[in-house]
Amino acid sequence: MQNNKRQVSGIAAGIILMIGASQAFAVTTLKLSHNQNRAHAVHQAMTQFANEVKEKTNGEIRIRIYSDSQLGNQRESIELMQNGALDIAKSNAAELEAFSPAYSIFNLPYLFRDKEHYQQVIDSDIGKEILASSQNMGFIGLTYYDAGARSFYAKKPIRTPEDLKGLKIRVQPSPTAIALVKGLKGNPTPLAYGELYTALQQGVVDAAENNITSFTLSRHNEVTKFFSLDEHAMIPDVLLISNKSLNKLTTEQQEIVKKAALNSSNYMIQLWEQSEKEERAKAEKHGVEFIVVDKTLFQGAVSPMYDNIAKTQPELFEMVNRVRKIE
Ligand code: GCU
Repeated sequence: MQNNKRQVSGIAAGIILMIGASQAFAVTTLKLSHNQNRAHAVHQAMTQFANEVKEKTNGEIRIRIYSDSQLGNQRESIELMQNGALDIAKSNAAELEAFSPAYSIFNLPYLFRDKEHYQQVIDSDIGKEILASSQNMGFIGLTYYDAGARSFYAKKPIRTPEDLKGLKIRVQPSPTAIALVKGLKGNPTPLAYGELYTALQQGVVDAAENNITSFTLSRHNEVTKFFSLDEHAMIPDVLLISNKSLNKLTTEQQEIVKKAALNSSNYMIQLWEQSEKEERAKAEKHGVEFIVVDKTLFQGAVSPMYDNIAKTQPELFEMVNRVRKIE
């Protein structure tokens, strides 16, 4: 009898210990998907994000990063998040326009006066409103990642807007990007990023537009040798988390995740400048010509877009004016 009691209390103590231990080591793993390769600065910034979250939560939250569109392209990743099959995705403000129209502000050409103005908008209430704007789609933005300025690159030199006429130009799946290329009399061809190398190589498209880092790291410099520095847009990448995944974390863990995202975004600003310099040097070494253009010509050619927005999209135009007022 005595032995039995002892055995029972021993088992009970064991169970309590096991429960305690499993609580102490309860690990939540969050999957993060993105479409760049591991050498890209944004991958490094997100690695820092994952490391900080792991450290500050004492290992309770781990973020596993899947690069190179392993879990799908940007659109598919957002859809996976909406279906509860993915927790975090890095996308781009252009891609996000289809999910939340507020993101179109970043896709408008020459809206930001310079990098400083762009950064002020990112840090302003407008930047925060846009990150929150997709809540009813099942996810929110945690932070922005600097992605420099986007310019056209093609198989022939683009020196003036006239040179774009009639070219098949790959754009991101964004209505604003499509309108931009139409305004320049090119033929916009929306394609997922991962399909672009082959499309350029096989002549499905003649041109594309992106920042210098992504241009070389996706090896587009092998198949397009002229990069025009028209810098028509500064479109950030955006780190997204599904509402469901965020809500399953404690308040304290949510704060850690948000802070770490912001820290990684600041780290990205440092990484970006360096990465663009390095990638430009690499491209030049491989025979790419960087063309300095008169940006005012491009700016003039796309300015009717703003008259059109004023007439047809009053809400967006109001936001344009708010952005312009930021000093
Ligand atoms: C940039 C951006 C990507 C995006 C790509 C594109 O490189 O960082 O998120 O997918 O442009 O043009 O599709």
